[in-house]
Amino acid sequence: MRARYSLPLLAAFGLALFAGAAFAQTETGDPERGGQLFVENCAVCHGVDGEGRIGASLESFPGIDVSATLRQTISRGVPGSVMPAWSEAKGGPLSEQDIADISAYIVSAFGGTQPIAPLPTYQAPVIQPLPSVAGDPSAGAVVYHANCAVCHGDQGQGRIGRTLAKEWPVNEPAPYIARLVSDGVSGSPMPAWASSKGGPLSDEQIEDVTAYILTLSPVEGAPTPTPASPGPISLTTGLILLGVVAVLIVIGLIVYYRRA
Ligand code: HEC
Ligand code: HEC
Repeated sequence: MRARYSLPLLAAFGLALFAGAAFAQTETGDPERGGQLFVENCAVCHGVDGEGRIGASLESFPGIDVSATLRQTISRGVPGSVMPAWSEAKGGPLSEQDIADISAYIVSAFGGTQPIAPLPTYQAPVIQPLPSVAGDPSAGAVVYHANCAVCHGDQGQGRIGRTLAKEWPVNEPAPYIARLVSDGVSGSPMPAWASSKGGPLSDEQIEDVTAYILTLSPVEGAPTPTPASPGPISLTTGLILLGVVAVLIVIGLIVYYRRA
């Protein structure tokens, strides 16, 4: 009797340990996964090493519970600035776990203890320029994916920012879009991008990204640049897969021993 049940018991114990580890991770956050999320969502404004680009520098934080302050700021955003609210509860795109992981990354990485994940470099796709639109849409695709996709989506479908893959209800969409991109939309998270307005993009880059945006609506599925090297699956994904496998093994063992 004892021998018969010891194996499933052992497996169940292992599973409990795994669940415990996963729970502990929710509490503290996984800095490795957070680094990837930071690069995808935050580096565009805060820089890869948190030194600041459009957003504030994230290098040092005063406070007793830094991690809690960070999580709160990231969840809610900073009203009246371009810092968006990121939590799903506030209409943003990130889960509580995502935010805990990013906070863990900010605390550890910018304390100087961890290497910082690099920004992906994009390979320019070949895109036919539209007639009568200045600017190079291929170069614009690269600008778009490094700066705009975070809010407007990979395909211009919209995320924190509006849908850009659409018909523009103006006579001359190119100068209209270029002006919006240069100046930003005050009172919204849409930053001013032109270097003349304190942003990080040159006039030529804005012309290029405008040309790219205009290929998004009339030409279905304009080619998107691919990151040069896709990373391996994240630690969390790996753990979840491991958990699923463990559950399947336990169920299998229980069925097997019931039958025997
Ligand atoms: C569109 C640009 C933009 C993006 C994208 C962005 N931020 Fe910010 N963030 C800002 C700006 C601007 C501020 C400064 C707001 C202020 O205080 O006026 C800021 C402030 C912050 C602060 C508070 C800094 C301080 O010193 O109080 C934190 C923390 C922060 N951001 C984290 C993040 C994280 C994490 C992400 C990604 C999930 C992110 N931000 C994405 C622009 C951005
Ligand atoms: C932090 C998020 C964020 C980033 C990054 C961002 N945008 Fe936006 N964008 C927005 C939001 C939000 C709006 C809607 C503003 C409003 O009207 O309330 C917007 C609006 C726009 C519009 C006007 C859309 C319309 O229907 O009128 C254009 C064009 C645009 N963005 C282009 C860009 C380009 C190009 C980039 C990259 C260089 C970029 N955006 C980066 C958030 C962002």
